[in-house]
Amino acid sequence: MSSAPSSADVLAALADFQDPETGRNAVQQGQIRDVEASADGVRLTLALTTHSSPLRAETQRELEQVLRAKFPALGNVEIRSAVHERPPVPMGEIGLLTKSVIAVGSGKGGVGKSTIAAGIAYGLLRAGCKVGILDADIYGPSIPHLLGLRGRADITEDKKIRPYDLDGLKVMSVGFMVDPDQPVILRGPMLHGAISQMLRDTAWGPLDYLIIDMPPGTGDIALSLSQILPLTGAVVVCTPQDVALLDAVKAIAMFRRVNIPVLGMVENMSYFLCPDNGKRYDIFGSGGAQRKAAELNVPFLGEVPINIQIRVNGDEGKLAGNFSNTETAPYFEGVVAALARQLRQTMRTTKPLPTLSIMK
Ligand SMILES: Nc1ncnc2c1ncn2[C@@H]1O[C@H](COP(=O)(O)OP(=O)(O)OP(=O)(O)O)[C@@H](O)[C@H]1O
Ligand SMILES: [Mg+2]
Repeated sequence: MSSAPSSADVLAALADFQDPETGRNAVQQGQIRDVEASADGVRLTLALTTHSSPLRAETQRELEQVLRAKFPALGNVEIRSAVHERPPVPMGEIGLLTKSVIAVGSGKGGVGKSTIAAGIAYGLLRAGCKVGILDADIYGPSIPHLLGLRGRADITEDKKIRPYDLDGLKVMSVGFMVDPDQPVILRGPMLHGAISQMLRDTAWGPLDYLIIDMPPGTGDIALSLSQILPLTGAVVVCTPQDVALLDAVKAIAMFRRVNIPVLGMVENMSYFLCPDNGKRYDIFGSGGAQRKAAELNVPFLGEVPINIQIRVNGDEGKLAGNFSNTETAPYFEGVVAALARQLRQTMRTTKPLPTLSIMK
């Protein structure tokens, strides 16, 4: 009969276990703690950063699988959670304090970029991450409306612009600086300046994720952003019909041209589930984005159907409603989870950070 593993055996079995945020060895980083092994089983604490919050349950399951594969006769496995502090390193020349910056865009207007961008931001926040959202649609800012925020931004004591705080989500939009009924008239270089200023001069506080809601169409803003910051990647939103897909293909090419990696595609308005008879209607066709994503070698992050409540929540500025509604929540949560997994994957395959020694 094999004897129960010791704490040292458990740590040795987890020698290749990676921290989902950095890909570094979790044991060496001091993220696997308080290991107690006995004949009954194993208890330990897995400490993850708030950036990894969406992957917490999944990472715990993976850890348990590693242990069970190594010690088939293992009894109980109890994994407690803790937060591992790892503050962001200033990003780009402007020194933005965030770990990931994700642009949400498409080539076409009205496909639901802002709805999906706000959904991703709120989903990450709900999972336990520190999140900001920047409305980069200078000419047609819609984030204040979608989030039900009104009024002017004020200035902090150290002369920064104070972002709106919506249940902890930090929100900045040009809509907080101009009269909502007045058009914003800016020439190209001023556009670059406005985006740069909103990124640099907003008192975001330390973030895990900054989500950027992109305007439709041209690459001006993407180009500006790529010059200001090393973006983590872009999410391309599209609807399933061919014309929208053509624009999505252009958007992917545009992001690639300015060296912003494409993290994945989201198909919005995928189908309509009729509340009267439960029948599914593929109004714009269906599955087009998933096929196109496979063709272009871009990950598919999920679909969001046409749902009246999503439109009503948008009009009424009730972002949280998309998550409290049991019909719509799984779609938004699915996209957030897929995005978090994709980020981990990208980091594992392209950016394995060097292992740092633990500082105790
Ligand atoms: N899945 C959905 N079901 C129902 N309505 C939706 C859905 N997605 C978005 N909408 C609605 O469609 C409209 C356009 O959405 P949104 O503003 O997010 O698009 P956009 O791509 O950001 O537009 P723009 O190009 O103007 O920036 C909004 O009224 C929104 O509430
Ligand atoms: Mg928009």
